[in-house]
Amino acid sequence: MTIIEQIKKLKKELNATILAHFYQSVAVQEVADYSGDSLGLSIKAQKSDSELIVFCGVRFMAETAAMLSPHAKVLLPVEDAGCPMADMITPEQLIELKKHHPGAAVVCYVNSSAAVKAESDICCTSSNAVEVLKSLPEEQEIIFVPDVNLGTWAARQSGRKVIVWNGFCPIHQWGFERRRLDKLMAKHPGYTVLAHPECDEDIVEVADHVLCTSAILRFIEDNDEVIVATDHGFTEYARHLWPEKQIISLNSRARCKNMQKTTLHSVLDALVQQQYLVTVPPEIASRAVGSINRMLEVSR
Ligand code: 13P
Ligand code: SF4
Repeated sequence: MTIIEQIKKLKKELNATILAHFYQSVAVQEVADYSGDSLGLSIKAQKSDSELIVFCGVRFMAETAAMLSPHAKVLLPVEDAGCPMADMITPEQLIELKKHHPGAAVVCYVNSSAAVKAESDICCTSSNAVEVLKSLPEEQEIIFVPDVNLGTWAARQSGRKVIVWNGFCPIHQWGFERRRLDKLMAKHPGYTVLAHPECDEDIVEVADHVLCTSAILRFIEDNDEVIVATDHGFTEYARHLWPEKQIISLNSRARCKNMQKTTLHSVLDALVQQQYLVTVPPEIASRAVGSINRMLEVSR
């Protein structure tokens, strides 16, 4: 039996659901029941009636799934698949920041630990950050953690004034150079530039569209020539879906190392060994889930 057949057989026997983020390798996304962006996968986890969810992504995503699907066992195939941006703020730092802005609402990007979500009022993803900011009362002071780029962009789009934490994604912050983008745009006039909002301002300001991963995919579905500024694993997946289209990566070396850690072997091991179980302490989960559910209410 091939490894893919073994995974499919075990998945059925165990009544497991495999969820994969769009940054996962094509091979992993091929064995998944659903591929999606952070928001889409959270909703899938919430609606899933499986007893076992194998989350092919990074830890904060699996934690969110575990909190939204408390009846299920959630497994992260690679124990140390983390997100450096999520580690850029601790709950203690957020508590300290809140002391300086009593009365401020805290909006927290889902790329954060459960403990940081527990100290926040409402979560957001890159697909609903603008909507979430707009949902807050106009006179409300707002703190946004941890992504400075998403926070700054969403503040501008929503017309809201926001105090932003200085966290960032190393791949989106350092992976893309404006000079390279200018060159590619000059070489490929007529191509549409699509950037993820985690990119630095100098990329976002010239992009034709600033979109979350699922919206980038929807755009490519209807358009044939694009330059994409996000993780290269995502571009590979888009090329796999539409091999006939011209999909250029702004940087083919910009890859999320943590996302790439998951392989077919680690997915199989996760199913066989039932590893690595992701749990969130109940006192943290009960508060964090409130922030996640408030976001889901806004973006329903
Ligand atoms: P999406 O919410 O657009 O899937 O992005 C998640 C992420 O981690 C991007 O780096
Ligand atoms: Fe985190 Fe960046 Fe990887 Fe997304 S791409 S999971 S923000 S390190």
